[in-house]
Amino acid sequence: MKIVHTIKDLQVLLSKLKIQGKKVGLVPTMGALHAGHASLVKRCVAENDAAVVSVFVNPTQFNDKNDLEKYPRTLDADCLLLESCGAMYVFAPSVREMYPEEDMRTFSYPPLDTVMEGIYRPGHFNGVCQIVSKLFNAVQPDRAYFGEKDFQQLAIIREMVRQIKYPIEIVGCPIVREADGLALSSRNARLSFEERKNALKISQALFESRTFATLHTVSETQKLVEGAIADAPGLRLEYFEIVDGNTLQNIADWTMSGYVVGCITVFCGEVRLIDNVRYK
Ligand code: PAF
Repeated sequence: MKIVHTIKDLQVLLSKLKIQGKKVGLVPTMGALHAGHASLVKRCVAENDAAVVSVFVNPTQFNDKNDLEKYPRTLDADCLLLESCGAMYVFAPSVREMYPEEDMRTFSYPPLDTVMEGIYRPGHFNGVCQIVSKLFNAVQPDRAYFGEKDFQQLAIIREMVRQIKYPIEIVGCPIVREADGLALSSRNARLSFEERKNALKISQALFESRTFATLHTVSETQKLVEGAIADAPGLRLEYFEIVDGNTLQNIADWTMSGYVVGCITVFCGEVRLIDNVRYK
C-alpha cells in the first residue's frame, strides 16, 4: 500500500493501471476509520483491480468550526486498517492541495438538499459535492463507494453524478452496526460511557418502529419514534422524517411509495448522531 499526498503523484500511479484497462475503485473518507469504512474498502477491493481510499477532513462541509477542529485525525491508525483491508493507495492530501484557491462552485440539487440535513446544516452538501467532485476529477474511478448511513448524502451524490454525467458507478453500502445495534460512526468515539448507553435508544426506536409500522399509519409511526427519543435520557431529537427513498420527500401514507426510509438525527450530549431505517 502506498500513501500519496498530491493529485499529480496519484494520477501518475493510476494512469499506469488505467492504460492496462484495470478498474479503479474509490472510497472517499474523512479518516477516523472504523469497521463501517472497512466494509466499504473491502467491497471496493473485491470489485476492482485497485482500491484508492481518500482520507481528507474536508473543511468546506463543516458549518461549525468547532466540529471541524474536534474532528479526529488518526492517519497512522487509518493506514494500518486500510492496509489490512487490501487498499492499494491512500490519498491523503493537504487542504492546500485540494483547495489551492477558494472553490466558488455551487452545487444545488433541490429538493434532495433542501430537507433534513439541508435545513440543519446549511452549506454542508455544497461542501460535500465540492470535495467529492474534486476527488472524482482527480481519481476518475470506475466505481465509488459510500455508506448508506449518510442516506441523504448518498442520494445527493447519485444526483450529482447523474446531472454531471460522471461515468462512475455509485455503490451504496449497508450500515454497519455494533452488536447491540448502534450505527458505527467516527463520532461514537466522542461519547462518554453514559452517552454511549443513551445513544443505543436511537437504533432501538428505529427497529421498534419497523415492526410497529406494519400495523400503524405513517404519522403514528412518526410519533412513536419522536416519543421514544423524547423519553430517553440525554437525547435531543433534531428531526425524524419518514421519506420516499428516492425523492427524500415526506410521505403521508405507506402506499405513496415502494421505497420508504426513516431518517433521524439526534444529539446525544454534544455529539450529533444520524441513523436511518428502511420500512420498505
Ligand atoms: O461521508 C463522508 O465521510 C464525507 O462526507 C465524504 C463523502 C468523505 C466527503 O468529505
